[in-house]
Amino acid sequence: MADVNYYSVVESTHDVQNPTSEEKLRLVADYLEVSPGDRVLDVGSGRGWWNVELAARGADVTGLEINEDFAAAAVQRAEQAGAAVRTVVGPAAEFEPEAGAYDVVTCIGASFALDGYRPALGWMCGAVRDGGRIAIGEVHLDDGEPDEEVPSLVELVHIAEEHGVDVTGLVSASVDDWDRYESGRWANAHRWARDNPDHAQRQEILAQARANQSAYLTRTRGLLGWSILVGVVGGPNR
Ligand SMILES: C[S@@+](CC[C@H](N)C(=O)[O-])C[C@H]1O[C@@H](n2cnc3c(N)ncnc32)[C@H](O)[C@@H]1O
Repeated sequence: MADVNYYSVVESTHDVQNPTSEEKLRLVADYLEVSPGDRVLDVGSGRGWWNVELAARGADVTGLEINEDFAAAAVQRAEQAGAAVRTVVGPAAEFEPEAGAYDVVTCIGASFALDGYRPALGWMCGAVRDGGRIAIGEVHLDDGEPDEEVPSLVELVHIAEEHGVDVTGLVSASVDDWDRYESGRWANAHRWARDNPDHAQRQEILAQARANQSAYLTRTRGLLGWSILVGVVGGPNR
């Protein structure tokens, strides 16, 4: 009986592995002005929907992904689409991007892969050319109590500005978006448990899914927001 990864189970059917939607991600791509020939680097590329969307706009895309199940799904998706996407499997922090080599760098819900929002921005701004664009998706305070651990949306913008980024676009998840993302995870966990009644990790996966559901309902839903900031790095206005 092969071991399974919790995230591989609960996000086994997700195309969008963040609390927004395909429509909102297309808007992010519009804001990024992704154009034919653009070199794009994406951190934490998941099952590859976003990378194929960018490649469909003519970009040459490199995705960095640590989860082998997700990376395999991304490779298969790109092959089926005939898309110019290369998926590099491993920790994003071990990938050493050539400085200033990319027109666009994105990190949608994976800043933790680069030690958090501030270091991720530094890494991304180092990889993008002067006047290039970035998009970074991150959790932030919404209507919840101030929390030293979680920045507000305006703090996210100010930290981006400290890195020489002019924020030019904002796309935020609604509660409905976030509920859809979480619902997919809950349904996948229960479907997997139903289909694998004798798996050694069945109780562990169910327990983690229930704990995460409770955490979402008590400490996240309606209290935290989730937004993608789009910005220009350096360029003539800086
Ligand atoms: C919240 S998901 C977002 C996936 C995708 N960007 C999207 O929005 O649909 C975070 C992704 O980052 C990946 N990840 C986590 N740690 C990583 C690391 N150290 N290096 C590369 N990818 C990582 C996870 O496996 C997962 O696919």
